[in-house]
Amino acid sequence: MDASDRWKRAAALRAVELVESGMLVGLGTGSTARHFIADLGARLSAGELGDVRAVPSSEESERQALALGIPIVDLPAEGLDLAVDGMDEVTDELDAIKGLGGALTREKIVASAARRFVLIGDDRKRVARLGERAPLPVEVVRFGVNRTRALLRELGAEPELRGGAQTPAVTDNGNLIVDLRFDGPFDAAAVAEALAAVPGVVEHGLFLGMAERAFIAGEAGVTELVAPSS
Ligand code: 5RP
Repeated sequence: MDASDRWKRAAALRAVELVESGMLVGLGTGSTARHFIADLGARLSAGELGDVRAVPSSEESERQALALGIPIVDLPAEGLDLAVDGMDEVTDELDAIKGLGGALTREKIVASAARRFVLIGDDRKRVARLGERAPLPVEVVRFGVNRTRALLRELGAEPELRGGAQTPAVTDNGNLIVDLRFDGPFDAAAVAEALAAVPGVVEHGLFLGMAERAFIAGEAGVTELVAPSS
């Protein structure tokens, strides 16, 4: 395990401590969420936790959870107790960009259904403003994708079809991903509102005001950030 992987695991271990027996838990997607799922599975099989059921945010996380014997259920109407996921960027206010792994739509459905949404990651994901390093992923339907891209360009971003036109990346929902790169700082709340109004956009990777806390690990250990509103 390299340093970055050790940090991801350290952050995931702190989040697993929030899981209690009987909980319905949302499982994120990606290399950090993978550690969380692995540790959750280990605690269940060791008998340290019981009666935990999970809702995965991707087929990949579902396969991992099933292999570990974590019971999987459909997302119930009443929502979830807790959801834990990685991120591509996070600010000190816990606004985040997600979706480099392509699972943003299910991740947002799961995160927004949870009474507590917790982010985990290593400290290379911390930014002063969103978009500093990562593009902003947007899931779009296939139909009319060129028109949708033109509308996305009007938001002031360069819209790149993930995977390219010949071999586009396809999400678990059968849709495409357009990665938006802005030239400089952008108003995340205004962009989120504008994206929601673009026909063809299924979901975007701005997770604003959703996380209750974040565990961010690095050389100096795990830092816990708590949302201003918590
Ligand atoms: C997937 C995601 C991931 O949570 C995000 O990309 C972080 O992944 P990793 O933990 O591998 O760095 O949003 O859609």
